[in-house]
Amino acid sequence: MTDPNLQAVSLPQQWSAQSWRARTAVQMPKYPDSAELEAALAELRRLPPLVTSWEILSLKQQLAEAQDGRRFLLQGGDCAESFDECSSDVISNRLKVLLQMSLVLVHGMRKPVVRVGRFAGQYAKPRSADMETIDGVSLPSYRGDIVNGPEFTAAARRPDPRRMVKAHARSAMTMNFVRALIDGGFADLHHPEYWDLGWVGHSPLADEYRRMVAAIGDAVRFMETLSGEEVHNLNRVDFYTSHEALLLPYEESLTRQVPRNWGWFDLSTHFPWIGMRTAQLDGAHVEFLRGIRNPIAVKIGPSVTPDQLLRLIDVLNPGDEAGRLTFIHRMGAAQIATKLPPLLDAMRRDGRRVLWVCDPMHGNTESTANGYKTRRFANIASEVEQAFELHAAAGTRLGGVHLELTGEDVTECLGGARELTELDLERAYRSCVDPRLNYEQALEVAMLIVRKQTQISAPR
Ligand code: PEP
Ligand code: CO
Repeated sequence: MTDPNLQAVSLPQQWSAQSWRARTAVQMPKYPDSAELEAALAELRRLPPLVTSWEILSLKQQLAEAQDGRRFLLQGGDCAESFDECSSDVISNRLKVLLQMSLVLVHGMRKPVVRVGRFAGQYAKPRSADMETIDGVSLPSYRGDIVNGPEFTAAARRPDPRRMVKAHARSAMTMNFVRALIDGGFADLHHPEYWDLGWVGHSPLADEYRRMVAAIGDAVRFMETLSGEEVHNLNRVDFYTSHEALLLPYEESLTRQVPRNWGWFDLSTHFPWIGMRTAQLDGAHVEFLRGIRNPIAVKIGPSVTPDQLLRLIDVLNPGDEAGRLTFIHRMGAAQIATKLPPLLDAMRRDGRRVLWVCDPMHGNTESTANGYKTRRFANIASEVEQAFELHAAAGTRLGGVHLELTGEDVTECLGGARELTELDLERAYRSCVDPRLNYEQALEVAMLIVRKQTQISAPR
């Protein structure tokens, strides 16, 4: 195995952790008090980082393997974390769903899964307008708990730099709990019952899932009988974190050099991504992510042209380093068949390599007549299925999925095994941003991925 640190990738030219400040930075709050802002950033610069460069480089290696088809990436979590929901149940339930999904994927795809949470830092949100107006009153839009509060009052909506310090602390608590659970054996394949969610009971998918767990249990016991000892590497798994690197002052303050690895690392998370609204080639976000050594991702929406895509690679991965760059396409079920193939063709013609991931959530958001922002399970499923087919037809590979999901019993997306309707949305709609898959719907997506991938790779 090559040591990613020894690969000939050079330091980016003319880059510093502050060079983004000379570019246009869209989606950034206007902090009213610059002394207050500077004090918060100074405090963040002194605080310990949330992840290490070693973990970041080992994730990059795993993403390189996913790029080659030797692994599959499962990236998922809330659209936005909130400070209030930094609680034991929310964190462990989300982890349980991700572990169950990854079990389904490992079992069905017969390859290891790279597990990446959208958590421990997913606190900043892009908005379509800077201001929100209700009954003639205009206030700054809510930009996520790291910036301001969701309540429609002048005090809550004022961008408060102290919230960055609180977001760092909440991220550290989340991280600490996840690490403690994993290290303590929560992810142990000998005990998949640890991941049962109490209220699941009579899920229509429960039988299929239990059969899978039983089959894996048999295989584990068989291997242990053969070798005469317990298989210890089944006791724990790797878990990585990611979030949208939107609030650049925060990311900058956690971007550091470390003693034994060259270059700069954004130590706020393992795997930052650039959202669709901030992916301008000459913008501040691309400039910032260009210079860090983390693996990075960019969301690719339906308006991106093949030429823009190639130029993004020139800037973000000029050395063609494996595992460095992931493109997360989010076209929508209605558009993926026309928008994705020209991008895939251009990449293949140019001999460029990235990890391709499908986000079937953000291109499929709609509003119901009763005013809920929702997504139809059928559209989510259709986008994933089409993604597998379009990549197979283009000679490229779909190496992962990016999902918004929760372990809570919410009713935010329509359809799925329980056929949730618009009336069900009223029962348990809790997201204050995008609608998430609930436990059953998430597990159903994992099963669907396995079915589709098996079908695509079967000899025709
Ligand atoms: C998100 O991932 O929550 C998001 C805002 O996505 P996008 O940038 O793809 O719209
Ligand atoms: Co979202």
